[in-house]
Amino acid sequence: MNHLFHLIPSPFRRASALGLALWLCAQIPALAQDPAAAPAPLAPKMTQQELIMLSLIGVTIMVAILVLITVMYTLVIVRQVVFKEVAKQEKVESLWTSIDKNVLTKAVAIEEEESILLDHNYDGIRELDNHLPPWWVYLFYGTVAFAILYMLNYHVLEISPLSVKEYDNAMTQAAVEVAEYKKLHAKNIDETNVAFVKEDKAALENGKVLFEKNCVACHGQNLEGGTGPNLTDEAWIHGGGIQAVFKTIKYGVSKKGMIAWEKKLKPDEMQNIASYILTKQGTKPANAKEAEGDKYTLKADGTAEKVK
Ligand code: HEC
Repeated sequence: MNHLFHLIPSPFRRASALGLALWLCAQIPALAQDPAAAPAPLAPKMTQQELIMLSLIGVTIMVAILVLITVMYTLVIVRQVVFKEVAKQEKVESLWTSIDKNVLTKAVAIEEEESILLDHNYDGIRELDNHLPPWWVYLFYGTVAFAILYMLNYHVLEISPLSVKEYDNAMTQAAVEVAEYKKLHAKNIDETNVAFVKEDKAALENGKVLFEKNCVACHGQNLEGGTGPNLTDEAWIHGGGIQAVFKTIKYGVSKKGMIAWEKKLKPDEMQNIASYILTKQGTKPANAKEAEGDKYTLKADGTAEKVK
């Protein structure tokens, strides 16, 4: 097998090199375009099956070429045996050296550089008719190999996600994180964003339980009032509406004996109690304490307007 590549006729070698080059050029548009970002290509986008088929055809052609080379090689050997024309081999090269020297880099060994010396001579500076240096050529082959792996990875086998997919994944991940954050900071309610959760049965029930536990002593079982004011009428000393009620609960009125609950209750719990209180408006419980403060009209969204 050592002299395989000496035996391949040179036009054939050139033809296969040209074929490879053309095939590589054909890959360039496929690699350069990002299917989602680029405008729709003129040719319809190939499906994965079509790409795999194409790759299979390519592999088949390559195999066919290899078989052809082998057949030719065998024929030459047979001819040599038959005509007893075994060529004199001055130097035995390894297959790799042979491929490297004759196909890949066409490198000329330093000892043999005399053979490619051009005959002109400028003040002692002479010129070699050399090929591109092997390091450059191998770099090129490296990029070719990279391109093929890249295409297989991203466009044929789709092992790694494309940028668009990566972006989508990041956004999905971020959405999950935001949801988690919101869940964790659900307690991040204050008087500016507190909501009247009158539709949320569980929240109202929670508000009722907490009220009965913490507030009935002063505001009465049915919010009718006692030490503290009646919370079922339209009159409010510290303002009506969800935000004002929440604020009063949170910061309290320490001088009058209404403590600040922000240390004892969580923000969402205070939201639940405030909402529960507002749902009790107009229930007119027995023994209701007389109205104190200004009159407010409560609206459906929990805001209230002072009555003039
Ligand atoms: C120790 C008695 C006491 C307890 C317990 C208490 N309050 Fe009060 N609360 C008061 C007093 C007294 C006032 C009136 C303050 C004022 O006159 O300025 C008041 C006022 C309020 C007001 C404002 C009423 C208005 O007219 O503006 C709200 C709302 C309120 N309390 C809710 C609650 C809630 C909810 C709880 C339980 C988490 C609670 N209170 C527990 C004594 C108490």
